[in-house]
Amino acid sequence: MTASIQIFDTTLRDGEQSPGASMTREEKLRMALQLEKLKVDVIEAGFPIASVGDFEGVKLVARTIKGPQVAGLARASAADIDRAWTALKPAGDRARIHTFIATSDIHMKHKLRMSREEVLAATARAVAHARNLTANVEFSAEDATRTELPFLARVLETAIGAGAAVVNIPDTVGYTLPSEFQRIIHYLRENVPNIHRAVISVHCHNDLGLAVANSLAAVEAGARQVECTVNGIGERAGNCSLEELVMALRTRNDLMPFQTGIDTRQIMASSKLLFSLTGMMVQPNKAVVGENAFAHEAGIHQHGVLKEKSTYEIMTPESVGLSSNNLVLGKHSGRHAFRERLVHLGYALDEAQLDKVFGRFKSLADRKKKIYDEDLDALVLEELGPNKKRYKLIQMSVTSGSFAAPTATLEMRVDGKVRKTAVIGVGPVDATYKAVTQLTGSNPRLKHFMLAALTRGTDAQGDCTVRLEIDGRMVVGHGVHSDIIVASAKAFIDALNRYAAIEERMKVTY
Ligand code: KIV
Ligand code: ZN
Repeated sequence: MTASIQIFDTTLRDGEQSPGASMTREEKLRMALQLEKLKVDVIEAGFPIASVGDFEGVKLVARTIKGPQVAGLARASAADIDRAWTALKPAGDRARIHTFIATSDIHMKHKLRMSREEVLAATARAVAHARNLTANVEFSAEDATRTELPFLARVLETAIGAGAAVVNIPDTVGYTLPSEFQRIIHYLRENVPNIHRAVISVHCHNDLGLAVANSLAAVEAGARQVECTVNGIGERAGNCSLEELVMALRTRNDLMPFQTGIDTRQIMASSKLLFSLTGMMVQPNKAVVGENAFAHEAGIHQHGVLKEKSTYEIMTPESVGLSSNNLVLGKHSGRHAFRERLVHLGYALDEAQLDKVFGRFKSLADRKKKIYDEDLDALVLEELGPNKKRYKLIQMSVTSGSFAAPTATLEMRVDGKVRKTAVIGVGPVDATYKAVTQLTGSNPRLKHFMLAALTRGTDAQGDCTVRLEIDGRMVVGHGVHSDIIVASAKAFIDALNRYAAIEERMKVTY
């Protein structure tokens, strides 16, 4: 019999805590629906007491999602737990309260200013309080891997004694090594007398690039729930990457006979959707979901793969939802072929969305002969982006070159009103950005700007990603167009819209 590993997805909570990854309520729901398709066991939807927006997001996910359990994070206090429960209640018996407290000396002394005995008492109180609301209680010992082991064992024994069904061992600062983490899990299994009454979970951060390795090591040592995020997003260097963990378990089932319930064919669609919602790029060489993960450039590799796939391919592109079919669409392609292609790429659009994207496809096909999958991704993702936009680019033109002063002329809709301006800059992007800031009345700092070709060929669309700092908050924006300056303007405006949506979300009342 192969043991099952529960996949606890925290993309919408720990993932969302990474700079620039904030999502609106509706975006969270869209991602949660995709996680449901991916068949994760638990969706951690947010930290309800952290903000009104987070509370609303968790509530919406709890009300809508029908398959996976829905978890909400709460510190070890009655107020936090009650707030989480109010948001989670609509999920009924699939609602999970996830409460935590730090247990390492360094956190207890400098952050909590609590003694060990006080932390033990708070653990017992918090878990018992949550247990009065639901039997589905998870307890996390924050910074567990830097906690003195006999004390960690006492904390877990207390949590299980008070009713925790799952005990989570976070490597909060991504400090542990695989062999060390295995020893910690073994130690806990041997030294927590009631450990058999709870599921052991692990939650690894990637500061040393070891989150997946540490999680796998923990599974070998007896952990049966792994906490992870799509594309490995998360605080600092991120969390354990869901797709890497799941594909490692699947590919090396000979050495690690464990199964997950994940529908791996939904991996690419999940990765792409997250990118579109947050604008957080996936590095091209990222395992499993990176653009190059299945590209065999070197002649010797191509030759081998063409003769016999298994020479260089340890998993198939189809198994993660990547199509092997490089069918190219063009201006004569009909709605039927277009729809088929989108379904193949993992997109499920309703008729109204399909109509809009098909219209955009036709106008792109007038400008560009061959439409590749990457172009389709960009079209769909633009359509799926936030609906209520404060700022919209109506039209623009730019003059630049080696003798003319770079000038951008822009027409935008700002809060429903049409505004126009013409601005001179150091270069065409500078002129464009100055025009946008003038029309929108915003004053962001451009922290990062990246331009790439979306596909091959000189007629490829430009793919621009920007990162802006506005009032101390990072926002990412993304824009695609066959003119690279228009792509840059769209990316800038996209980031401003995301910021506006986040600001709006903070105002929601309940
Ligand atoms: O990294 C961490 O310790 C956490 C806990 C709240 C589970 O995210
Ligand atoms: Zn974490």
